[in-house]
Amino acid sequence: MGEAIKNNVIYSAEPEAKATVLAVDDNMQNLELLEGLLSTKGYNVVKAYNGKEALEKAAEVSPDIILLDVLMPQMDGIECCRRLKEGSETRLVPVIMLTALDSTEDKVRGIEAGADDFITKPFQKTELLARVKSLVKMKGLIDELENAQNVLFSLASVLDQTDPYTHGHSQRVSDLSGRLASHMKLPGSEQEAIKNAGILHDIGKIATDKGVLHKPGALNGQEYKHVKEHPVVGEKICKPLKFAKPLLPIIRSHHEKYNGSGYPDGLKGENIPLGARILAIVDVYDALTSTRPYRSDIPSEVAVEVMKAEAAKGYWDVDILKSFSDMLRIDGEELS
Ligand SMILES: [Fe+2]
Ligand SMILES: [Fe+2]
Repeated sequence: MGEAIKNNVIYSAEPEAKATVLAVDDNMQNLELLEGLLSTKGYNVVKAYNGKEALEKAAEVSPDIILLDVLMPQMDGIECCRRLKEGSETRLVPVIMLTALDSTEDKVRGIEAGADDFITKPFQKTELLARVKSLVKMKGLIDELENAQNVLFSLASVLDQTDPYTHGHSQRVSDLSGRLASHMKLPGSEQEAIKNAGILHDIGKIATDKGVLHKPGALNGQEYKHVKEHPVVGEKICKPLKFAKPLLPIIRSHHEKYNGSGYPDGLKGENIPLGARILAIVDVYDALTSTRPYRSDIPSEVAVEVMKAEAAKGYWDVDILKSFSDMLRIDGEELS
């Protein structure tokens, strides 16, 4: 509906969705000037008169860009910008600060608070419109990337929730691996990568034959070889997405074993990425403590004992396993 094809290009008769600009200034006249200028160019303008109100409006309308005055009552533009850039919902919204001419100090504080651009007052109309246009375009690209990331996570979550045997496995592995990474005091960015890899680590199973995946008995050689492809397939699925870059080695290597007997690369010891060594332990623990087609679940303390015996055979990183069992004990899991 509403589309015409001309020279293989689809022309849509629907108007482009209007970008929303949140304009923030305590000076009513300035706001009206901004509103007049931007609305004639087709932007939807929402106004706020101080930083506090700007935060509320930003949460309410999800703007595509924010124009922020510096000096305002209640909460100034610098503090408002800092909070916007800290908020998970607003951190990717571009902020242009409107500063007084020659105010280098405001600019430095603005940069520290995370502002994306500056315009000096009184502003030149063409300059303001050009900067708003380019940052709105950038926001559109960021939204597209975020959508792709969300699609991937949704896919993993559907796969996780609808698997009759491993129901919720990836979410549990993500939660527990994140807790272990935090217990091991890894940097925040690594904790985040491990948590996200937990959600996505088995996404390659989307390509695994479901008859083989859910087979109640032991797998034959051919079937086992097929299941073993999932870490490489998972890496391939996630590779095009920039956000997934730090997760790729974890996804690929989550079935490696410390003594080199794992797959797909037979990596040994510390050649296995740290995130993968952590995830591997939690992955096996979750498999042991939940019901699988070929056996019922076993209690937490028994699972840890089984894994300690396996670590003695060289399967797992002994130090990480020790941290894991300490963490479970501290957190009051069923360990004796
Ligand atoms: Fe796996
Ligand atoms: Fe898994």
